[in-house]
Amino acid sequence: MRHIASLSLLVALAASSLTAQSIQYVESRKIWLLTTRDSTYAMGVDPEGTLQHLYWGAPLWRADDVPAAAVRRELSSFDPPAMLQREEFPAWGGTRYYEPALKVTRADGNRDVVLRYVSHQMRESSLDITLKDIRDDIQVVLHYRVYPDHGILERSATIRNETAQPLMVESAQSATWNLPAGEGYQLTYLTGRWAAETQVNHEAIHQGMKVLESRKGHTSHNINPWFAIDAGDAGEEHGSVWFGALAWSGNWRITVEQTPYQQVRVTGGLNTFDFAYPLKPGEALDTPAFYAGYSAQGFGAASRLLHRFEREEIAPGGLSSRVRPVLYNSWEATTFNVNEAGQKVLATTAAKLGVELFVMDDGWFGQRKDDHAGLGDWYVNPEKFPHSLKPLIDKVHALGMDFGLWVEPEMVNPDSDLYRKHPDWVLSFPGRPRSEQRNQLVLNLARPDVRDYVLGFLDKLLSENDIAFLKWDYNRNWTEPGWDQLPASEQKRVYVEFTRNLYAILAELRHRHPKVEFESCSGGGGRVDLGILRYVDEVWPSDNTDPFDRLTQQDGFTYAYTPQIMMAWVTDSPHWLNKRSTSLSYRMLSSMQGSLGIGANIANWSPEEFALAKRLISEYRQVQTTIVQGDLYRLISPRNGSEFSVTQTVNPEKTQSVVFAFIHSTQQGRLFPRLKLKGLDPVAEYALSPIVGKPRTGTPPVASGAWWMNHGLDLDDGFRGDFQGAAFRLDKQ
Ligand code: GLA
Repeated sequence: MRHIASLSLLVALAASSLTAQSIQYVESRKIWLLTTRDSTYAMGVDPEGTLQHLYWGAPLWRADDVPAAAVRRELSSFDPPAMLQREEFPAWGGTRYYEPALKVTRADGNRDVVLRYVSHQMRESSLDITLKDIRDDIQVVLHYRVYPDHGILERSATIRNETAQPLMVESAQSATWNLPAGEGYQLTYLTGRWAAETQVNHEAIHQGMKVLESRKGHTSHNINPWFAIDAGDAGEEHGSVWFGALAWSGNWRITVEQTPYQQVRVTGGLNTFDFAYPLKPGEALDTPAFYAGYSAQGFGAASRLLHRFEREEIAPGGLSSRVRPVLYNSWEATTFNVNEAGQKVLATTAAKLGVELFVMDDGWFGQRKDDHAGLGDWYVNPEKFPHSLKPLIDKVHALGMDFGLWVEPEMVNPDSDLYRKHPDWVLSFPGRPRSEQRNQLVLNLARPDVRDYVLGFLDKLLSENDIAFLKWDYNRNWTEPGWDQLPASEQKRVYVEFTRNLYAILAELRHRHPKVEFESCSGGGGRVDLGILRYVDEVWPSDNTDPFDRLTQQDGFTYAYTPQIMMAWVTDSPHWLNKRSTSLSYRMLSSMQGSLGIGANIANWSPEEFALAKRLISEYRQVQTTIVQGDLYRLISPRNGSEFSVTQTVNPEKTQSVVFAFIHSTQQGRLFPRLKLKGLDPVAEYALSPIVGKPRTGTPPVASGAWWMNHGLDLDDGFRGDFQGAAFRLDKQ
């Protein structure tokens, strides 16, 4: 007993000193250990100078346990050593046949690159390791940053051409992540399409390669740049999960590959499809950040690590970012038919509900009557707003709300003054069709003049009007991505420069207008990733606002992203998309699991509906911080035809918890499952208060955390039917 106590003390001490020193280097064996509170990642230089991955998993405290990187012998002439080793950042060259992290063509056609360790630089929580080709001065600097308290490791790479000849970079990845040797792994990832984003996929990893990617110019609705891999035995709250998220809003690619040598490798960064980035002597290319982590407690804990990291380290406001204001958005109520009088009526009603931010959506500018015209002409439409926006903004302010506005800055309708003046500003190949989607074309934001135009009109809009919020939309994919002002060999730089300019514009606008907040929208969730999240405060997850469909989307969304950025509107019933009828209470509760917004035609609400929404907005405000910043537990997933769906959040102090429970449709004899709550303080006492619904008769009004977690919460036997919702809060006494 004594022995065990002293051993665990030693482990705790060692772990805490490791956390204090998150990067360790053991010179004698040339190994590095990168340690967070949840994980250790180790790599080392082998006798030939190759940087090899050595370990990724639960925290280690004894660096001496990690052996030096070794050179493997070939298994056969067909199975060379390089394929058996776990190279940290393999270039394509020598005997490597798996997915490389770097592929380069020299001016003379030579394409062989073999990287070896040169030097490294260590700071408190970051490490740069410089590699160089065995012959030429083609350098790669691998950047590592440890977030010890968040359990996250960040990687990216800088590729430098220090030779005297130009190079063409054909693959520039951010990182290769090697899983512990073995088989039987499972991959989890998020797919979808317009109005059906963030659906969870879970499948076995077999030999060969799975490609997750976007070729659409933006992040895309189809696959989100996030993955999780488990050893085949993980669940919501148990088992090892390795996960990662790529911070890039342009064409991206993540490959998941199982080699014939029991090795799973994940390689991700800039999409190699149609990619070629020229580097003149002295030039460099930076790849996007690829964040990753390890959780020993399943997918729930992996999500919670990401949620906190996103809020505290990625979001523009970081630790000081505020929970999102409850907003009203006019889109589903008025579509393009906005005008001063109508918006004032909506604003007056919204204010009475307790809304804090009134957002006018599409239709306020240019000759914008529908989606055929006007995009690109960012002047206020004089028929709809004869006195410009000021009277409406003043009215919104007088009602005690902030004012927000919709823009779609990267797009143009051919029927616009902008396009008539600058037809050469769009992505296109000369002499080829310009494919339209939603009657619009994509401005080539990679061009400096287009970048300056977009920054200029947005800066003017924000300088001339008291605007607190911009919903930044992006409503089509790329096609014909030509940039014919550049020499042919340079044109594919568009894939990098476009996205960089997007980030630069957002950064500059935030700098010049620090009080303005932003939402990333792309026809719903087409641009949600850790790259854009550095510059925006929230995202629009989907144009599908049906409250039942949203449960599944929200479930998937929270695997990768914090509920704080998940804007969720309550809209009208029957729903415009799927004609489903649901009660206002169900709609409100579905949306209250994220950042709440109202997007219905509130002028049509009955007094009863109005009163219910007003009460629930007020109740939401009291528990909002717990919902969007607390630890999220997905107690029952709505996926796979589940009749039920339940989420629970607990604030970090464990003084408050909120439970949302939903029924799709009950069958007689199948009661709602007892809910064993999570994350409470077992010795604290919590009072249960219904927000909507009732607990089963006899449920104690106050009970210990141990009771709620080990016995659980039973819902009222009358909680049945179709599309029903209930919500409860628990407050520590
Ligand atoms: C996109 C957005 C919607 C709305 C419309 C306006 O579809 O996702 O929320 O803003 O554009 O045209």
